[in-house]
Amino acid sequence: MSLHRLASITVGVPEPEPVRAFYREFGLVETRPGRFESADGGEQLRLQAASRRSLLALTIGVDDADDLGRAAAALAKLGAPAARDGSALRAIEPVTGVRVELAIEPRIAQKAAPTLELNAPGRSPRLNARSRAALPASPARPRKLSHVVIASANAPASKRFFVEGIGFRVSDEVPAIGASFIRCSSDHHNLLVQPGPISFLHHTAWEMDDVDAVGRAGAAMVAGDAARHVWGLGRHAIGSNYFWYLRDPAGNFAEYSSDLDVIVDEEAWRVAASGALHPLVAWGPPVPRSFLAPDDIAALARGEG
Ligand SMILES: [Fe+2]
Repeated sequence: MSLHRLASITVGVPEPEPVRAFYREFGLVETRPGRFESADGGEQLRLQAASRRSLLALTIGVDDADDLGRAAAALAKLGAPAARDGSALRAIEPVTGVRVELAIEPRIAQKAAPTLELNAPGRSPRLNARSRAALPASPARPRKLSHVVIASANAPASKRFFVEGIGFRVSDEVPAIGASFIRCSSDHHNLLVQPGPISFLHHTAWEMDDVDAVGRAGAAMVAGDAARHVWGLGRHAIGSNYFWYLRDPAGNFAEYSSDLDVIVDEEAWRVAASGALHPLVAWGPPVPRSFLAPDDIAALARGEG
């Protein structure tokens, strides 16, 4: 029937050991060296040794063989080679070199997050009780991989590959910066392709229960090492999600995220027109320069990453 989820990613880093320790502390469960599970999404992150930090591969869950056939035909039309077997289709995004796999697999089933009762003017659902969010909580456990953001040296071509070839849908666009928020599920975005001087992985984002879970988890990571802090706590304008960004030891950003917009009716959703939304943030601390242009990009461009 269609693409239904961002199933997993493979990230290359020059020195996996400290990066593995970071993602264990981040709340993912390392089941085998370099293989990490989220609470609901199964194995969603693989770390591999590579000459520089980069997104090496992503796997997208699809419902059935028709989806593979549709993508194969669309990629052929774009002139992008693809290899197909019974349950998967593999292609390489030519600008970034990311290996993309479409795999037939079951849809993700997530248990509903517990409702947090929030008192507000005129309504007080929580009476005679402290907020659960103010009580000690167990360590963070990201529920699933939410999205990945990559820079591409030719963002229009990369977008064409993912949208016209693979079958992603466009949720919002920011023409001023040439960025496209695209989805392969009902989440507002599973992939953002933005222009860059070179192709690189900007960040991965991991879904948390709510804003308190984002705040707690971000604060715990920063308490462990203040140098990890990048940007947060805030709420994005596009996608509406709360965010807190941290930096892993390889230089990739990792985001705790919650309350992302969900799109199930194409007709009911309006793709944002240029200038309709501030591109980055509804509220939050000032955007750090290093978020817009990560500090290691010049070195990566020189091949020193
Ligand atoms: Fe994000």
